[in-house]
Amino acid sequence: MTVLLTGVAGFIGAHVAEALLARGERVIGVDNLNPYYDPALKQARLARLAGRPGFSFELLDIADHEAMAALAARYADQIDRVVHLAAQAGVRWSLTHPFDYVRSNLVGHMVVLETCRHHLPGLVHLVYASSSSVYGANAKVPFSVEDRVDQPVSLYAATKRADELLSECYARLYGIPQTGLRFFTVYGPWGRPDMALYIFADAIVAGRPLTLYNYGRMRRDFTYIDDIVQGVLAALDRPPPREGGVPHRLYNLGNNRPVELVELVRLLERAIGRPAEVRLAELQPGDVVETFADIEASRRDLGFVPQTPIEEGVRRFVEWHRSYHGWR
Ligand SMILES: NC(=O)c1ccc[n+]([C@@H]2O[C@H](COP(=O)([O-])OP(=O)(O)OC[C@H]3O[C@@H](n4cnc5c(N)ncnc54)[C@H](O)[C@@H]3O)[C@@H](O)[C@H]2O)c1
Repeated sequence: MTVLLTGVAGFIGAHVAEALLARGERVIGVDNLNPYYDPALKQARLARLAGRPGFSFELLDIADHEAMAALAARYADQIDRVVHLAAQAGVRWSLTHPFDYVRSNLVGHMVVLETCRHHLPGLVHLVYASSSSVYGANAKVPFSVEDRVDQPVSLYAATKRADELLSECYARLYGIPQTGLRFFTVYGPWGRPDMALYIFADAIVAGRPLTLYNYGRMRRDFTYIDDIVQGVLAALDRPPPREGGVPHRLYNLGNNRPVELVELVRLLERAIGRPAEVRLAELQPGDVVETFADIEASRRDLGFVPQTPIEEGVRRFVEWHRSYHGWR
């Protein structure tokens, strides 16, 4: 298997690349190493992949149609799978930098689809990242892939939902087999510094106050990175059939066990061994109060069964945070 993997220097991308290489697959990784968060962390993730047999890296922007076409043309006879994870992530940033989302998530997704359509004749499966944020203002929990998803509360969510519709269209029109994965708050070693767990850990270690929005009454279905990687690989190995319907499926990859943010802070305090100074504030625009994944279909079709309890996952994250940032 030769996999074109976009967003390879990202949190989830680097872990997925590592798992694919460990399985003996070839990975052609793409990333633009943008400075949305510290590019040194992206470089450090890449450094762990560089030199591994079967790995190569291309510095390019997925919204650059010509660069993507040229890359695909070079490897057209080899690439049989695409894992598309590159995106402008983050809900808050989308309030102030809307065009970053248009470029990476809308234009970028279209370029990936067009690249598959025109330049990858041997493509067996395109797996791409969607998000739990597509459930937006939905009140019914747990969130099911059968639920309507037309009430986005952030531009980020709207672009992720748009990606699902673009993919549905290309599966219908051109028969490109695709699976969209709605990730639920992924966490773990080498995680994203813009996400709550990392921000809280930084604050506790530095002795700074941390802010809990909606007065701490927020619940997230935190899902450990190793479980997500298992889900991505299981999906990649199961392309929807080209015959007998539109070859496009959507799955939730979540832990199916939401945790209150207050509880998360308690687990962090215990793992770090220092107290948190907590400030409470009102709900921020773009945030949803609760995420909770119904994973019945993922269990049935992908054998997806999350294995990592939050206590263990937070401990492993803190262990990594300590060694990466060098605190005692
Ligand atoms: N981490 C989560 O909790 C979570 C939840 C839901 C969905 N997702 C989705 O999963 C995917 C991976 O997320 P992540 O947490 O690893 O984020 P990340 O920001 O760590 O990784 C994304 C990577 O894509 C790269 N990238 C962004 N725009 C690009 C462009 N135009 N061209 C080339 N590279 C580009 C970035 O440099 C980054 O390395 C994203 O699509 C994200 O929206 C993540």
